[in-house]
Amino acid sequence: MTFGARLVDGLLEATVVGSFTKIGIEVRRRLEHWEDLDQVSMAGKVVLITGASSGLGMAAARRLARMGASVRIVGRDPAKTVAARDAIASESGHDDVGVYVADLSSLDDVRSLVAEVLDREDRLDVLVNNAGALLAERRESVDGHEMSFATMVLGPFALTEGLLPLLERTGGARVVNVSSGGMYTQRLVVDDLESRTGYRGSVAYARAKRALVVLTGEWGQRHAGSGVVFHAMHPGLAATPGVHASLPTFERVLGPLLRSPDQGADTIVWLAAAEEPTRSNGKFWHDRRPRGTHRLPTTREQPGERRRLWDLLVEQAGPSRRAGVDEPRPSAG
Ligand SMILES: NC(=O)c1ccc[n+]([C@@H]2O[C@H](COP(=O)([O-])OP(=O)(O)OC[C@H]3O[C@@H](n4cnc5c(N)ncnc54)[C@H](OP(=O)(O)O)[C@@H]3O)[C@@H](O)[C@H]2O)c1
Repeated sequence: MTFGARLVDGLLEATVVGSFTKIGIEVRRRLEHWEDLDQVSMAGKVVLITGASSGLGMAAARRLARMGASVRIVGRDPAKTVAARDAIASESGHDDVGVYVADLSSLDDVRSLVAEVLDREDRLDVLVNNAGALLAERRESVDGHEMSFATMVLGPFALTEGLLPLLERTGGARVVNVSSGGMYTQRLVVDDLESRTGYRGSVAYARAKRALVVLTGEWGQRHAGSGVVFHAMHPGLAATPGVHASLPTFERVLGPLLRSPDQGADTIVWLAAAEEPTRSNGKFWHDRRPRGTHRLPTTREQPGERRRLWDLLVEQAGPSRRAGVDEPRPSAG
């Protein structure tokens, strides 16, 4: 990137609104060579995307299918997920789109999903952990975990760990974790991952998204050189059914400045398909560039918190996780 391009990108990044809205992606795509992903072939690659019955997941699935990938979508509502499959296949002109049904907040569902994928697929090139929601009221999953934590941290942890043997066997595989710019407002709080005190939906959501970014860094470190790369990203602010339901004020105020679902999904697709993300591990991206994970000094992890998060997830995800596979090298954190 040239100095001028870096300067414009950095100025945009500092403004938040400019960066997160469609201004961000529309300016950045003019800054330098912005790879045309429609020219990248994903033929022969299998991509599994959670939360693809709507919004960004569906947009990413459609684009990857158009690029020739064999796309597998995961949704919790069978009829909605099958309808999404049909729409993705017809809009992309590519029929190799499969359906799995699972509620990511249920560990039993995630275990069944892992078993089914391992049984049905002979390779997995990309796993996109995208399913998520911001919930106004505190709710608990069938396992008794707070819903944001269950859906956006524990479920993805159990799913990723369960599918790692297949990702490793495939070689050159990638895991893409969809976080949120909201995570910049919160630090990791391992002692209250379940948001038991003074629940606020936006805080529980941001903490879960922060935990997912921390976890991505941990996976990147533990699996350095394993042939699997892990990246997290934030999509900015895109007009999706999820934003319509949970952030109506953003929708009203920012209206036409919100990104389209395709623009929000752009970095997911780029991380799944481009060459550059294979050269690093455990990073956090926005608009195809690595970004810092902190904007405030107060959000930095306390010593040992990363390790405690990992240990807690291992304990809660249960024994079926990676049966018979050696534990990889932990980080120092
Ligand atoms: N749009 C944005 O501006 C924005 C910004 C930052 C981060 N994000 C993140 O991007 C991801 C996609 O969001 P979106 O805006 O596209 O929202 P969306 O339109 O509501 O899509 C969310 C998807 O996640 C699925 N999902 C939610 N909870 C689930 C569960 N327990 N089990 C299985 N699937 C579940 C939904 O399934 P149903 O169809 O059954 O509801 C849906 O397919 C989320 O992780 C979100 O936090 C979005």
